[in-house]
Amino acid sequence: MLPISDTPPPHSKPKTPEILDRKHSYFTAVKPYLSFHHRRTWFFLAVLLLQLLLLLSAPSLPFSLSAAGSSSPRPSPALHNLSFDNSATGEQNFRDGLFINEAINENCPYGKVYVYNLPPLFNTEIVKNCHNINPWSSRCDALSNSGFGKSADGISGIVPEKIAGAWFWTDQFSLEVIYHNRILNYRCRTLEPESATAFYIPFYTGLAVERFLFTKNSTTEERDRHCTMMLNWVSDQPFFNKSHGWDHFITVGRISWDFRRSKDEDWGSSCIYMPKMRNITRLLIEKNPWDYFDVAVPYPTGFHPSSVSDLKIWQDFVGNRQRSTLFCFAGATRGFIKNDFRGILLNQCYSEPGSCRVVDCGGSKCANGTSAILETFLDSDFCLQPRGDSFTRRSIFDCMVAGSVPVFFWHRTAYLQYEWFLPGEPESYSVFIDRNEVKNGTSIKSVLEKISKEKVKRMREKVIEYIPKIIYSNSIHGLEGIGDAFDVAVEGFLRRVKEQEGGYKWK
Ligand SMILES: *[C@@H]1O[C@H](CO)[C@@H](O)[C@H](O)[C@H]1NC(C)=O
Ligand SMILES: *[C@@H]1O[C@H](CO)[C@@H](O)[C@H](O)[C@H]1NC(C)=O
Ligand SMILES: *[C@@H]1O[C@H](CO)[C@@H](O)[C@H](O)[C@H]1NC(C)=O
Ligand SMILES: *[C@@H]1O[C@H](CO)[C@@H](O)[C@H](O)[C@H]1NC(C)=O
Ligand SMILES: *[C@@H]1O[C@H](CO)[C@@H](O)[C@H](O)[C@H]1NC(C)=O
Ligand SMILES: *[C@@H]1O[C@H](CO)[C@@H](O)[C@H](O)[C@H]1NC(C)=O
Repeated sequence: MLPISDTPPPHSKPKTPEILDRKHSYFTAVKPYLSFHHRRTWFFLAVLLLQLLLLLSAPSLPFSLSAAGSSSPRPSPALHNLSFDNSATGEQNFRDGLFINEAINENCPYGKVYVYNLPPLFNTEIVKNCHNINPWSSRCDALSNSGFGKSADGISGIVPEKIAGAWFWTDQFSLEVIYHNRILNYRCRTLEPESATAFYIPFYTGLAVERFLFTKNSTTEERDRHCTMMLNWVSDQPFFNKSHGWDHFITVGRISWDFRRSKDEDWGSSCIYMPKMRNITRLLIEKNPWDYFDVAVPYPTGFHPSSVSDLKIWQDFVGNRQRSTLFCFAGATRGFIKNDFRGILLNQCYSEPGSCRVVDCGGSKCANGTSAILETFLDSDFCLQPRGDSFTRRSIFDCMVAGSVPVFFWHRTAYLQYEWFLPGEPESYSVFIDRNEVKNGTSIKSVLEKISKEKVKRMREKVIEYIPKIIYSNSIHGLEGIGDAFDVAVEGFLRRVKEQEGGYKWK
């Protein structure tokens, strides 16, 4: 089992040096802006209500309230279409002897999702109490704007002016709020559970437990309470009973290891080990690769385009960028334990100032904004992605969104995590260097220098091609005709349910 006690608290004050390189959101703005937040909340509620009314009055109407609107919704060749399997549509249109409106069904070959109406204590009330989600600082800014956080106004000098509005100070742990808001407007959502293929339980699994993870004297009962209550609630639902839960899913904005406590004295909640959780699929930012019911989805980054044209502008921008540095490393520079692998990378980076750039996250640099990190990724051909406190880091996605090619040292950092979202051939978009070779003195610079300019170009093109799949768009219906990370994740789960045909076959 993993060194679970290593797991990072978010937004913790750096009490020990080791905490400095935690899974701390690079893009997190921590200062509370209360009036701002409340205005946002009301605006958001108003928009939500309007959308709900529209949805109820015209469920099949393809409307879009996205502010920017997509002036050119035609996907560029670099963009992926959603992988619709047309062979399934025929069967979908004819059910129970009735033809179902084709306009509703044509884009949902894998079926539709029913969203449970959970008691607010499992979601909206948690966000309402955003001041108290963790013991150190308010999370109100981070959870504002449907989970995207505050607008990244300080970034306009770095990104093209036209799409500065697509950047936010998004917190890496806000996945649950982002998915919940998106799924309420999902084109394949159904309001009738009888017609659903899958069932979404909008429980804020990570946010509910965060406070108790980082309170020293919290009891195991406190850490398990919300999850237990949610499971009791959902297991009373007829559709859960019917399927034993195998067609149900939740989102988890933290790593799987925070929910796998097996002994009372250990770290975390035991949520995932609870018997009633057994058949429920979890979409989380880091999975246990050996658990079929864990599915890893991309960490939220700060980039949330609201139209295909904004996405295209960004892809062109990172594709044409002149990159002056061979590679870079963003992380804390102080307090590494002597033989920590990250320390070796830092030393190599510092000793090659002409080829490598370090972003020191030790101070407040990374906590208060993306500028320094984004700029470094934009200027580098490669970015080093060692494992951190856990196997994955948000930085993988920050790097790729900037069109920089990731360099991995552990297979579990990305290859065994995000299979639905990244190219099948690791060497097409990334470099793998065995960590033992690095420990034995192999120079990263010499490895990367040997890769031909042509090959670097091809890898970068592959990274850029996959940007849509690793971002969460800021449009209530997603990006027209293109699957973003949300679409890929939910469609992937629907497809799984269809493939299992009546239940996962436990051996
Ligand atoms: C996307 O779909 C359109 C129309 O179905 C097709 O013309 C286009 O080639 C597809 N693009 C990709 C990248 O598959
Ligand atoms: C934990 O400690 C805090 C302050 O020391 C106290 O207020 C709280 O009641 C304690 N909680 C438990 C469960 O003991
Ligand atoms: C679940 O289904 C069983 C029969 O399959 C039934 O006996 C039981 O009452 C059901 N429970 C609920 C909560 O619906
Ligand atoms: C999980 O599914 C299996 C059948 O696939 C069933 O036997 C088992 O009872 C289910 N577990 C729960 C907790 O519903
Ligand atoms: C971030 O910190 C720098 C100084 O470290 C400060 O000048 C800047 O205003 C801060 N930005 C935000 C958004 O807090
Ligand atoms: C690293 O060096 C050790 C001995 O110093 C050797 O046993 C090991 O095979 C080397 N590993 C690699 C990957 O070169």
